[in-house]
Amino acid sequence: TLPQHVRLVEVGPRDGLQNEKQPIGVADKVRLVDDLTAAGLEYVEVGSFVSPKWVPQMAGSAEVFAQIRQKSGVTYAALTPNMQGFEAAMAAGVKEVAVFAAASESFSQRNINCSIAESLARFVPVLGAARARGVRVRGYVSCVLGCPYEGEVAPQQVASVARELFAMGCYEVSLGDTIGTGTAGKTRTLFDVVGRDIPRDRLAGHFHDTYGQALANIYASLLEGIAVFDSSVAGLGGCPYAKGASGNVASEDVLYLLDGLGIHTGIDLQALIAAGERICAVLGRDNGSRVARARRLG
Ligand code: HMG
Ligand code: MG
Repeated sequence: TLPQHVRLVEVGPRDGLQNEKQPIGVADKVRLVDDLTAAGLEYVEVGSFVSPKWVPQMAGSAEVFAQIRQKSGVTYAALTPNMQGFEAAMAAGVKEVAVFAAASESFSQRNINCSIAESLARFVPVLGAARARGVRVRGYVSCVLGCPYEGEVAPQQVASVARELFAMGCYEVSLGDTIGTGTAGKTRTLFDVVGRDIPRDRLAGHFHDTYGQALANIYASLLEGIAVFDSSVAGLGGCPYAKGASGNVASEDVLYLLDGLGIHTGIDLQALIAAGERICAVLGRDNGSRVARARRLG
């Protein structure tokens, strides 16, 4: 049986915008976040506190946090790779953060400049400081269904990293198909394996749509009892350290799938489409949501 309720984690302002080439002003980022929460999204990843040399597009995250209209009942989160990022996030008033590890050593090196073990060791003090302040921490594992440098990644390797994140206190672990090579069968196997160590209601799916498989993978995940998915309005984004990775699966398209299954999300499709159309106009970019494009023609 499929879950009755699904939570969408909107990562467009972070995972989406971090990979856009042209400069994006703080006001446009703020407007995007506010449009998304007005559409009913209850979780928005607003930005990240990482090195601006590595990801210039996220440099203004503190200003964005300062200017968004914070709605009650909405979680506004930020990525924090280390204590420096965590402290910056706290100074900006952030109330939920995420740490991010990888299931492949090469990707870990290229993304965060350290080994998997080193990254996990860096997260321990972040989790400790977060616990002391009552800040919830989400965990990510990248390259769960393939690595741009190493190819196949074993589900057991994903499970081992996910287990460590969960054990150190992440309340939820999101499994990222960073380069979108996953297929529905592999997705089911992945959640079957990782689900032996971590309760399924503590796991999320994060699918990039590079190979056009994301919706199929989400449906496969639903069949495995997964009820939290990360998506990006208008399919914005990619990953600067995964060449060729296209955007995240479009939030509008995921919502259309869920609405069709009668699964409740609390999000208004028309308002979400409008939010996506607006940011695409600002960026001068094609809308990556098939649903948004179809509605425009219809
Ligand atoms: P490093 O160079 O090893 O760090 O980078 P360091 O500790 O040696 O410090 C070097 C310099 O960076 C110093 O500055 C630090 O102050 C600065 P300098 O003295 O040279 O002027 N620094 C920082 N500045 C701002 N914020 C910080 C910070 N930490 C150090 N937090 C580091 C290590 C992790 C910082 C770097 O590699 C980095 O920022 N990487 C960016 C990673 C990133 O944001 N990737 C994209 C997000 S992950 C993703 O997209 C995948 C996901 O969507 C899931 C999926 O799809 O798979 C989540
Ligand atoms: Mg991603």
